Amino acid sequence: MKIAIIGTGYVGLTTAVVLSYLNHDVAAVDKDESKLTLLHEGKSPIHEPGIQNLLDEVWHTIRFTPSVAEVVPEAELILIAVGTPPKKSGEADTRHVEQAAREVAQVCLPDRHYTLVVKSTVPIGTNQRVVEVVEDVFSARGIRGNISVASNPEFLQEGLALQGAFYPDRIVVGANSDEAIDTLRRLYQPILEQTFDPPSEFPRPPSYHLPPMMTTDPNSAEMIKYAANTFLALKISFINEIAGLCEEVDADVTEVARGIGLDARIGQQFLRAGLGWGGSCYPKDTAALLGVAAQSGYKMPITEAARTVNFRQRERIVEKLRGTLGTLKGKSIGILGLAFKPNTDDVREAPALDIIRELLAEGAIVRAHDPIAIPNAQAALPGKDDTIPELQFTEDVYELSYDADALVLVTEWDFYHKLELRRLAKQMKTPILIDGRNVYSPEEARTAGFHYIGVGRI
Ligand code: UGA
Repeated sequence: MKIAIIGTGYVGLTTAVVLSYLNHDVAAVDKDESKLTLLHEGKSPIHEPGIQNLLDEVWHTIRFTPSVAEVVPEAELILIAVGTPPKKSGEADTRHVEQAAREVAQVCLPDRHYTLVVKSTVPIGTNQRVVEVVEDVFSARGIRGNISVASNPEFLQEGLALQGAFYPDRIVVGANSDEAIDTLRRLYQPILEQTFDPPSEFPRPPSYHLPPMMTTDPNSAEMIKYAANTFLALKISFINEIAGLCEEVDADVTEVARGIGLDARIGQQFLRAGLGWGGSCYPKDTAALLGVAAQSGYKMPITEAARTVNFRQRERIVEKLRGTLGTLKGKSIGILGLAFKPNTDDVREAPALDIIRELLAEGAIVRAHDPIAIPNAQAALPGKDDTIPELQFTEDVYELSYDADALVLVTEWDFYHKLELRRLAKQMKTPILIDGRNVYSPEEARTAGFHYIGVGRI
């Protein structure tokens, strides 16, 4: 199928590469020249496990272009995967989605049928708005036009994007037209029926079952996306709230999570207590959902509380440092991990950034490490162009521990699981380890010489 994808961010590029691997004829449009330059050279602008190798394989089949007019007229299906950044009010800004729809409607041919699919995460009602935008352009052009608009929310997890794209739990389609549903069913057929040969890096999981394609109305599809993210966010906040109480009553939250997760109705996933959620999705989407609710005058106290608990986790870590070190002024603190989660260089809304800002505000000296996210963190924090001596980044984690007053593990990179704890502890001025993700066994860390403090652990 001939497809045009508008936007080559995490969602757009992953989708482009996967659909091309599935033998669809893909063109990808982006206005960002720096991204296009990289893509024209065959380089992925995003860091995502496996994406570069897969891009190498399919690159010659994908057309990367800045021009909607060049590829949309010939396409059967157009996917909009542009950003929906938060407005000041928290609501998602759909300007780029509407603009993309407008540009599509301006260039599509009057005698052809197109399916226009919104993949970006958008407020409920956006699908209808896109229909109106398209109709306005058609009437300005004086044509009837034939575009079916559908919503197809994306459930991609950074760090697991390709795995999730080849082996999704479900595909959700919100559409009022049977034609659009049929087109999307044809698009996803190789995934729905698992008829493709898996790429060597992404073998089909042995227990994987064929995914359902759920069809529904557009508003419900848009709501499914927000509700799914908000539910996962509050599951994490719930276990973090329990973790805080565990600290008060000498219980171990990792045991509690295991015990409740064995109940099939609850499940084991997303019950890892720690520094909570960051990234480009949960903070933005929970705020956007509250924005949608506020417009209707509807209160969502559970979602509000999930946010409160989440951001409190960051403050609690700094409180733990104060609790052990007294004042933080002049103290040397090592930060392990800057990315909002492992296997990505994304630092958007990363807990590490807030913690570092707070430590600097209290006069601490911060040395920070991350396997790949240092450049992005440098751009988001003082320390690159406006270098400040109180904040240094290092690629050598052992150097960072030298003479440090405390270490704080913020991101649970595999790399940190394998550190020589004894060596780290020995080099420090005071061997305090605040394990913000409960990566280490308290016993092991204490045996290595650390004063160990986890989240909700004894
Ligand atoms: C999330 C959803 O998982 C995807 O399904 C969705 O498509 C995506 O948002 C989106 O809307 O685009 P993502 O933000 O990439 O994906 O990351 P997650 O793996 O869900 O983790 C989010 C945050 O929760 C991370 O900071 C992680 O450290 C934290 N987390 C996760 C916990 O603190 N505890 C857990 O048990 C799990």
